[in-house]
Amino acid sequence: MARIVGISGSLTQPSRTKALVEEITASASQKLHAPAEIIDIAQIATVLGSTISYNNFPESLTQIYNKVQEADLLVIASPVYKASYTGLLKHFFDLLDPKVLVGKVAILAATGGSDQHALVVDYQLRTLASFFNVYTTPTAIYAKDTEFTDYKLTSESISKRVEVAVEQALFLLKQESPQSLVA
Ligand SMILES: Cc1cc2nc3c(=O)[nH]c(=O)nc-3n(C[C@H](O)[C@H](O)[C@H](O)COP(=O)(O)O)c2cc1C
Repeated sequence: MARIVGISGSLTQPSRTKALVEEITASASQKLHAPAEIIDIAQIATVLGSTISYNNFPESLTQIYNKVQEADLLVIASPVYKASYTGLLKHFFDLLDPKVLVGKVAILAATGGSDQHALVVDYQLRTLASFFNVYTTPTAIYAKDTEFTDYKLTSESISKRVEVAVEQALFLLKQESPQSLVA
């Protein structure tokens, strides 16, 4: 059974980004008949921010990284902060062994206040995923604040985009990774 893990890079609670991750993981979960878990950076901000050594992980963080390593499908999402994804989301990935995500599939998403930074998801999150040799769906999702009401996604067009990205993820999950990537 496929394992689905969503990562929300927001530092606030409640969070639109987390709501978007919930929407994507719920759709994937339904289509794959598999459970989904969400890692909320806001909830682990203090322990994550104070961990700088690879060799000395607190147990709570080790458990979270194990979930990421065991996932088949990742949903990686962040609010745009100052024209980029959040610093703590970057720190989360900075602490991750570069080999452990190889060959996994990911759906990328971001939230933002304006149209100006919609390409953060393609120009920044996608390059991060590429560094880790993760297969990303061609459709990425960017949702503006106006597409949420009370921290719930209320945009039909974004929900449709979510469905398309999930279908693409299902397609990618069926493929067999080339041996060069597995080794
Ligand atoms: C520190 C900070 C910086 C932000 N910078 C940008 C930005 O550069 N571009 C943008 O479109 N929105 C920006 N925003 C707006 C957030 O991306 C937007 O409100 C997002 O939906 C917040 O997601 P959240 O509810 O998950 O925290 C910024 C918000 C904060 C708090």
